[in-house]
Amino acid sequence: MRAVSSPSAHVLLLENIHGSSHPQFREAGVEVHARATGLTEDALIEALNGLPGDGPVMVGIRSKTHVTARVLDAVPRLLAVGAFCIGTDQIDLAGARDRGVVVFNAPFSNTRSVAELIIGEIIMLSRHVFMRSAACHRGEWRKSAKGSNEVRGKTLGIVGYGHIGSQLSVLAEALGMQVMFYDIVGKLPLGNAQACGSLEELLERSDFVSLHVPDTALTRGMMGAAEIAQMRRGAYLLNASRGLVVDVDALRSALDEGRLAGAAIDVYPKEPKGAGQAFESVLQGSERAILTPHIGGSTEEAQANIGREVSIALTRYLSSGVTVGAKNLPHVDAPELTGGGCRISNIHRNVPGVLSAINNVVAASEINVASQHLATVASVGVLIVDLCIPRADPRVQSLREAIAGLSTSLRTRLL
Ligand code: NAI
Repeated sequence: MRAVSSPSAHVLLLENIHGSSHPQFREAGVEVHARATGLTEDALIEALNGLPGDGPVMVGIRSKTHVTARVLDAVPRLLAVGAFCIGTDQIDLAGARDRGVVVFNAPFSNTRSVAELIIGEIIMLSRHVFMRSAACHRGEWRKSAKGSNEVRGKTLGIVGYGHIGSQLSVLAEALGMQVMFYDIVGKLPLGNAQACGSLEELLERSDFVSLHVPDTALTRGMMGAAEIAQMRRGAYLLNASRGLVVDVDALRSALDEGRLAGAAIDVYPKEPKGAGQAFESVLQGSERAILTPHIGGSTEEAQANIGREVSIALTRYLSSGVTVGAKNLPHVDAPELTGGGCRISNIHRNVPGVLSAINNVVAASEINVASQHLATVASVGVLIVDLCIPRADPRVQSLREAIAGLSTSLRTRLL
């Protein structure tokens, strides 16, 4: 049970997080403490507890720093964690949820970067640019139109019509491609794109197949030997999703036998842990394959977007209690406070009777409620209560303390 109300907040930004986040924090009155490196568990605890004042603190990390249950327990002032990246495996998400600590990441900051790379590769594959460029480097002049095609009018089959797949759809249509897609969830087709009823139908009708699905039990191996065999002869396969989605041995055979004309692969079943390390793949040496080192989302723009996106989510949560986009808590949204009232933000254990207990406390305070916003998942709820009296009114502080004192309350703030 934690009660936080001080407005003077600090954020510790680790691992060289892009400076695009700083203006947002400053504008929200949050003091920024930036470091270039990651921190170990102990060093992180020390650094967070060493931040000035007794107000709320937030931490921004990328992949190297781990926010564990120990860190969460040792830093009671920790209000929120910003993963300035896509993955959140380095954070104990459930542990944070159970302690009322919200976690945000940046799921679509690099969407456009991936879609652009795929567009470039579709054209490079269609004109066999990489193999002809390699030949030029070797001193060979392989000038020929044979097997080279414009992409206009060709069919692009997109597997997974989420953030990246749908963005790619729009860009491909701008090039004059016909777009079809397959997704397990019903999706609104953008522009003239057409939904396919099955993966098989998409594979049979596409000149280019581009994969944009997550790594799940269903998608692992979804492009195996049988599916690759269902693709059109002379078609191209692109994978910038996750490495285990494609059976790379089967892909190599299809390329060697000329059944597929080419492939562009950015992700692999086994990838080196960091830059500069050795890389091995069965696809190496195939001149039909464009291989890139998981750089689909790696652009300066994506890094800047991540800085902005996560800092906006963190500061919005700090000032208004809104959890839209949170990775570990239900998403509650509420308009900005206007009209001189104030707001109580409460994260609670979602057990029977919790709301009536909170509402009984509010009713006993005799403060008029302007509005309430609630979102719950099985174990936890996020509640915003807007009150009709100003923050400075002493009755509001007493109400916050009474709500924070309920055994179900995990974190209660006055905003
Ligand atoms: P998203 O979650 O927005 O979209 C994924 C889509 O795949 C959803 O529409 C979902 O319904 C669909 N889907 C899930 N299972 C499916 C199945 N079995 N068959 C057909 N459709 C299925 O994800 P987003 O942001 O578009 O990312 C897609 C992939 O790209 C992810 O695997 C992500 O890890 C990867 N990625 C790769 C990057 C790179 O650097 N190469 C950078 C960013 C993302």
